[in-house]
Amino acid sequence: MDIGIDKLNFFTSDMYVDMGDLAEARNEDPNKYLIGIGQKKQAVISSSQDSVTLAANAAGKIVDDFERKNIDLILFGTESGVDSSKSAAVYLQGLLKINPQASGVELKQACFGLTAGIQLAMGHIMMNPNSRVLLVGSDIARYGINTAGEPTQGGGSVAMIMSAKPSILKINPGNAHLTKDIMDFWRPLYRKEALVDGKYSSREFIDFFDQTFNEYKERENLSTSDFDALIFHLPYTKMGLKALKSGLQGESEEVQKRLFDQFDASKQLNAEVGNLYTGSLYLSLISLLKKGKLQDNDLIGLFSYGSGAEGEFFTANTVPGFKSALENVDISWLDNRSQVSVSEYEDIYKSSLEFTDRDFVTEFKQDKSEFKFMGQTNQQRIYK
Ligand code: HMG
Repeated sequence: MDIGIDKLNFFTSDMYVDMGDLAEARNEDPNKYLIGIGQKKQAVISSSQDSVTLAANAAGKIVDDFERKNIDLILFGTESGVDSSKSAAVYLQGLLKINPQASGVELKQACFGLTAGIQLAMGHIMMNPNSRVLLVGSDIARYGINTAGEPTQGGGSVAMIMSAKPSILKINPGNAHLTKDIMDFWRPLYRKEALVDGKYSSREFIDFFDQTFNEYKERENLSTSDFDALIFHLPYTKMGLKALKSGLQGESEEVQKRLFDQFDASKQLNAEVGNLYTGSLYLSLISLLKKGKLQDNDLIGLFSYGSGAEGEFFTANTVPGFKSALENVDISWLDNRSQVSVSEYEDIYKSSLEFTDRDFVTEFKQDKSEFKFMGQTNQQRIYK
């Protein structure tokens, strides 16, 4: 049975801050952010968007009446949960009016949550061949104003529907996985902003990639030259480039050129948005599928990394005819976002930071998205 991705979509805020402007405001050379980090724009998420509404706005475009009736499982990967008990999957089910027989859970392991969902969905669909599973990875990456992590912020959501009749990507069974209990990046319950040992996290990322990539190739009897593309979780695009360079050491010029060119296509959208944690690898996948040079049945290697830390390497093949299925994945709106100044970004950033038991209303009236977080009444979140 072929199991994989049948529908795919992405959503982020319609506001961004230019990375050159941000660098100047922080007294840094713009090329540090543009080349050294590899980011051009950073999504600015308003107080009227949270991980639930970002997910609803991404998934809303692929959940039609057929899916509303047939989805039987919702897997919501996030590390930006809005409640310690109630699952974001249940909010999403309500907002999208998905049938009440569907079950749903929230999955957390830093940026690894959506990949964990994919592996769970593979087993679920194997047992239930008619199943349609809605998966989302939805997050807001926050490190704080004027911190080293600031140029690697961002946010957004990737939504997908997996089934036994995938029209875009067939996910291959098997993976190479590594878990190590380390403190490279974490966010204690009382904080909205992550704590990070940035250089250490970047070294661990490469080490996890090298180990899982080599282990996978050995298990499946594959060589690097068998891959048509290698893509990565992209907290910032230079991170993926560094890991790829490590993986391609000793390969022929032809193999290096092919895989660097495909990587270049796979980082384009991430460079325009920033880190969206759980969704980042899959935004890179959309970028590759839309902008790369892929043919039917091509083999893609995917490296997922979630701090704390878990890393996984797995593979997928493009489904014959995938290019026509991709016509429904619209990314053109990214070019129509509004630029905000650094001081506007700082104001918007600060407006979403408070934890409170008081009633409040967000700036939802200015938000043109379909799904919005309106505020809190009697300690309950109100969505529109
Ligand atoms: P930093 O210390 O400000 O930057 O923090 P730097 O001094 O290391 O410079 C960055 C790069 O810019 C360097 O290149 C410089 O040489 C270069 P590199 O040596 O790394 O190749 N540079 C320049 N290039 C061109 N022109 C110039 C120039 N000046 C300098 N003029 C850091 C950078 C990424 C550490 C920081 O932003 C950070 O801590 N970010 C957050 C942590 C992170 O993203 N870690 C990635 C791995 S962990 C992960 O992926 C998981 C995560 O997504 C969370 C989750 O799982 O939930 C984060």
